[in-house]
Amino acid sequence: MNTVIDGVDYGPLHQLIGSWRGDKGLDVAPEPEGQDKNAYYDEITFTPSGAAENAEQQQLVTIRYHQQVRKRSNGKIFHDQIGHWIYEPATGMIVHSLSIPRAVCILAGGKLQQQGDATVFHVEASAGSPDFGIVQSPFMLEKARTTAFRMTLNISGDVMNYEETTSLDIYGRQFEHTDGCELKRVVYD
Ligand code: HEM
Repeated sequence: MNTVIDGVDYGPLHQLIGSWRGDKGLDVAPEPEGQDKNAYYDEITFTPSGAAENAEQQQLVTIRYHQQVRKRSNGKIFHDQIGHWIYEPATGMIVHSLSIPRAVCILAGGKLQQQGDATVFHVEASAGSPDFGIVQSPFMLEKARTTAFRMTLNISGDVMNYEETTSLDIYGRQFEHTDGCELKRVVYD
């Protein structure tokens, strides 16, 4: 497969490019007493965003994405997320940056693995980590602190699955806020 676009070789990130849709997402979110579970529709668009060179040494390739999630029960958007997937060919490092409009940003890092036909991206971040960490507003730090994040995204041809866990310190307890969905590619570029 040709993974070069406008002179940039996106390598394994090339597989992400396009628009994806899923209708079997499941969100488990915190409530003051217990939890709330919602089935969701998922739309993610991944766009090539070029190469980056850092300090004339590090060569990266990047893909930008936008994710919008709608509740199945009413069709309304209840989660919006933007960010990049970044790959360093020299080391195989993967970085996932994400921002959500609750005033929380995450930089998660990891590696990718090939498992048969599937490419598996696994990234993690934790609050206070000197490298892959979490930045959040004063309110969130006090009332709904994200302490860790991990995500595994699995892609095989035109099918993508992800599972992510956002560890929260909220309502005076620890809560594992989880999301996962299977999506199919509907547009190729
Ligand atoms: C498909 C992905 C996601 C969906 C559908 C989703 C949905 C939700 C929902 C429904 C709540 C409860 C809101 C409320 O009670 O008013 C929530 C809370 C929260 N989510 Fe997510 N979320 C997703 C991913 C993430 C990610 C990646 C982060 C990373 C930082 C995150 C951070 C939070 C935080 C900090 C809260 C606590 C705020 C609160 O409940 O008051 N979420 N999310």
